Amino acid sequence: MPDGRLQGKVAIVTGAASGIGRAIAERYGAEGAAVVVADRNEPGAEAVAAGMDEALGVACDVASRPDCDRLFKATLARFGTVDVLVNNAALTATERHFLEADDDWWDSIVAVNLTGVYNTSVRAARLMAANRSGVIINLSSGGASRAHRGNAAYDAAKGGVEALTRALALDLGPYGVRVCTLIPGSIDTKGLPDETRRQRGVNIPLGRVGEPDELAGPAVFLASDDARYVTGSTVMSDGGMLAQQRSATVDIFGLEKFPGL
Ligand SMILES: NC(=O)c1ccc[n+]([C@@H]2O[C@H](COP(=O)([O-])OP(=O)(O)OC[C@H]3O[C@@H](n4cnc5c(N)ncnc54)[C@H](O)[C@@H]3O)[C@@H](O)[C@H]2O)c1
Repeated sequence: MPDGRLQGKVAIVTGAASGIGRAIAERYGAEGAAVVVADRNEPGAEAVAAGMDEALGVACDVASRPDCDRLFKATLARFGTVDVLVNNAALTATERHFLEADDDWWDSIVAVNLTGVYNTSVRAARLMAANRSGVIINLSSGGASRAHRGNAAYDAAKGGVEALTRALALDLGPYGVRVCTLIPGSIDTKGLPDETRRQRGVNIPLGRVGEPDELAGPAVFLASDDARYVTGSTVMSDGGMLAQQRSATVDIFGLEKFPGL
C-alpha cells in the first residue's frame, strides 16, 4: 500500500499515457512524488496528469531531441529538479520476420527504444550528477536475453538498453546516481480476450499474465531510498518467465502431475 515513500521527489515517466508507464506514474503520485507524465500522445498524457495530485502532462517523442529538451525545460520550470527518470516509452507492436525487414522498421524501432533512452538519460544525468543524487530506471524486456520470434529490432534495442544501463551505472555511480533495469514479463496492457490471457498464462510459472500495476511496486522500490545501494541491477516482475527453460506444456512435470492440487 502507498506510504509516501517518494514524498518530495520529482519523477519523469516516459510513455506514461497508457499501459505500464501510466501505472508507474500513478503509483509514484500516490507515493507522494510530483510526476511528469511524458508521452507522444499529448491528450493521453494530459488526461493521466489531470487525474493526479501534483503532475504535469508533456507531449514528448523520446526519439526527438528538441522534444526531450522541451520535456526537461518544462519539468525544471514547474518542479525545479529531476530526481527520478523512468525510461518506459517504447514501440511495442514491432513484430516482423527478419526476411521481411526494411530500413525504416529497424531505424524507427532503434530510434525510440534505444536512442530514446539515451536522449532522456543524458539530459537527466547532467542534472542528477550536479545534484549528486538521482535514479534512472530503464524498462527492458525478456527479449534482451531470450529472443522473441520475429522481433529482432526490438530485442536488439532492448539488449542495448541493458548494456546502456550497466555502462551508465558505472559512469554515474561516483556522482551519486543509480541506474537500474526493470523487466516486465507478459503484461496485459491492452485488455486481451479471456481465452488469450488463459493460453498465455499456462506457460508462465505463476500461471497467469501480469497486470501493469505489477511493475509499479518494483519501480517504487528502485526509485526509493530503500534501494540506495542498488545500481547496475536488474529487477524482473515477470511471473518467473526468465527463470524457465522449457514451458509448462512440454515439461516433464506438467501441470497434470498433481491433479488434486
Ligand atoms: N507489456 C508487456 O508485456 C511488456 C513486456 C516486456 C517489456 N515491456 C516494456 O515495458 C514498457 C511499457 O510497455 P507497455 O506494454 O505498457 O507499452 P504500450 O505500447 O502499452 O504503451 C507505450 C506507451 O509509450 C508511448 N510511446 C510510444 N512511443 C513513444 C515515443 N516515441 N515517445 C514517447 N512516448 C511513446 C505510447 O504512446 C504509449 O502510451 C516498454 O518499454 C516495453 O518495451 C512491456
